[in-house]
Amino acid sequence: SRQWRGVIEEYRDRLPVGPRTAPVTLREGGTPLVPAQLLSELTGCDVHLKVEGANPTGSFKDRGMTMAITRAREEGAQAVICASTGNTSASAAAYAVRAGMVCAVLVPQGKIALGKMGQALVHGAQILQVEGNFDDCLTLARGLSEKYPVALVNSVNPDRIEGQKTAAFEIVDMLGDAPDVHVLPVGNAGNITAYWRGYSEYLTGGPATRAPRMWGYQASGAAPIVRGEPVKDPSTIATAIRIGNPASWQLAERARDESGGFIDSVTDRQILRAYKLLSSREGVFVEPASSASVAGLLQAAEQGRLEPGQRVVCTVTGNGLKDPDWAVAGAPRPVTVPIDADAAAERLGLA
Ligand code: F0G
Repeated sequence: SRQWRGVIEEYRDRLPVGPRTAPVTLREGGTPLVPAQLLSELTGCDVHLKVEGANPTGSFKDRGMTMAITRAREEGAQAVICASTGNTSASAAAYAVRAGMVCAVLVPQGKIALGKMGQALVHGAQILQVEGNFDDCLTLARGLSEKYPVALVNSVNPDRIEGQKTAAFEIVDMLGDAPDVHVLPVGNAGNITAYWRGYSEYLTGGPATRAPRMWGYQASGAAPIVRGEPVKDPSTIATAIRIGNPASWQLAERARDESGGFIDSVTDRQILRAYKLLSSREGVFVEPASSASVAGLLQAAEQGRLEPGQRVVCTVTGNGLKDPDWAVAGAPRPVTVPIDADAAAERLGLA
């Protein structure tokens, strides 16, 4: 056995790199595909979770960032910039350190989880909190990258999508073929685009013999694709997907239509219910946005949109540690005891 080498080395022949490209990597990818016992029971399907919170910076963004930063360095860039709801900035900051590059990030003021802010800070990124939402940040970042010598590493950068498509490769490699349905949260819509590209490429000439229907879920207060128009003031507790005008809107619709899938929404209440179910019943701790996929799966099952007996993969996109406020908020306070075995035993209901 050998160590996983990161997505560029593992899938080099399927990525836009040359034979001499030296990857900037933290050995991202190779994440667990975990059978979901309770979700399988509840839906009558064979449900698996692709646990992307197990990536080096705790989200799927690392797959795209290794590609984007590798290529930016190859092209001589000395600085990168991104807009972010938190995870992209955490990932960009870490990979910029590996590449010896300067990293600038634009985040919506007061609307990113503390853990993600901590990551960007500890990796030494230059952070600007913008008095606006993610969409405003992206407009600014795009403008700056056009005017100044700084490479944009948001998912509008095609290298990001290329890197992120490797998650679909891994799933097919592990299951032996594509699932029937793939469910994931949708924010800026880069990831659903990337998965569809990965599945499509694996179908053309193998090793897959089929491709899944793509089911994407937005938060109901930030569901522009579902509504068919941009949302001016998006709102949801799932700050990672608090986006009103996704950059990859058309590509996401194409993934939906080509795969015979759909894009729908779930409420914050459903998101939190799925969040608690994942942690308390599956043992998988994700951030709220990530549980939108599972909330969507459960909703689809209730609506009779999910035929039993199918193989389903839900991507859970980010680690729960990034945004622990929601874990603490809903839970009872721990009891305090003296250093005394009898008192502890009594409190634990053992005595
Ligand atoms: N889940 C998490 C945890 C995310 O951080 C994001 C996006 C998504 C889902 C949605 O993915 O944008 O490709 O549709 N986060 C971006 C960021 C916007 O800045 O970190 P998408």
